[in-house]
Amino acid sequence: MTRPVIWIARRLSDATLVRAERDYDIIVNHDDIPYDRADIIAMSAKVDGMIACHSEHFTADIVATLDSRLKIVANYSVGTDHCDLAAFAARGIVVTNTPDVLSDATAEISLLLMLGAARRAVEGDRMVRDGDWDFWSPSFMVGKQVTGARLGIVGMGRVGQAMARNARGLEMDVHYYNRNPLPDDLAQGATYHDSLESLLPLSDFLSLHCPATPQTRGMMTAEKFAMLPDGAVFVNVARGALVDETALMAALDTGKLAAAGLDCFVTEPGGNPALSKYDNVFMLPHIGSSTGATRDAMGFRALDNLDAFFAGNRPRDLL
Ligand code: 8YV
Repeated sequence: MTRPVIWIARRLSDATLVRAERDYDIIVNHDDIPYDRADIIAMSAKVDGMIACHSEHFTADIVATLDSRLKIVANYSVGTDHCDLAAFAARGIVVTNTPDVLSDATAEISLLLMLGAARRAVEGDRMVRDGDWDFWSPSFMVGKQVTGARLGIVGMGRVGQAMARNARGLEMDVHYYNRNPLPDDLAQGATYHDSLESLLPLSDFLSLHCPATPQTRGMMTAEKFAMLPDGAVFVNVARGALVDETALMAALDTGKLAAAGLDCFVTEPGGNPALSKYDNVFMLPHIGSSTGATRDAMGFRALDNLDAFFAGNRPRDLL
């Protein structure tokens, strides 16, 4: 029996590639330079399935042009905002993602950003590194205490729940806004809010964990930042598209925000150069899920979805 041909659009972990090669004929982007529209369309005529990342943009017009040989796009990401799912459905191309397996790694980064922003990690690191640490005073590098503070979580899905678990370790008072309240065993004592407007005024720390959808894009406007308590700390490991970055910088300028921790930006890769002047902004280059264990788990989950599909079964993470 001929084996399905799979295009692996970026350089995935060694363990993922070994397993993929065992079970499929694979075409791997070893150079790891993102492909453009023409490459994606050309490749769709040569393969039965793809493992794609959020760096591959499947807009409606690209999906409409894909070759009919391509039957499945198994995403190596939980977020699918790079995919026009309606266009895929119209073409009858199956799409899957990789939920669950990256929740802990991503919540680790939101914890790191929250602590680093609150305790002035960028400023402190630079001072020591540059040899500028030449005095001490009780009023030196005073930050904002995280332990016992109130945390607002926007989007209490799997990553939001993992962040809430981390926050409980710091005895934080966790509040959340979600479309629906969670059952008690998942909420674990966190307080539900049925609107962002209700959550924001008490979020001394605010952490975003919702997907970028037409409803959530640009959600953090100047008006929303103004609703936070003075001196709040803002954290985003979800998607840059959720935030008006100009409004974010204005809130930093006025002191409405004491600090921010960002792993996601409107423009990626690259981020927003205008944010570089803020020592109270702790920034990382979209590495929420980037641990060895999680990268393997994401690759295996994408392969599990391909295996199910080519065996004639329903993939576990069918979108
Ligand atoms: C991934 C992510 O690293 O899974 C997601 O949605 O944002 C990241 O954690 C990235 O998408 C890999 O494609």
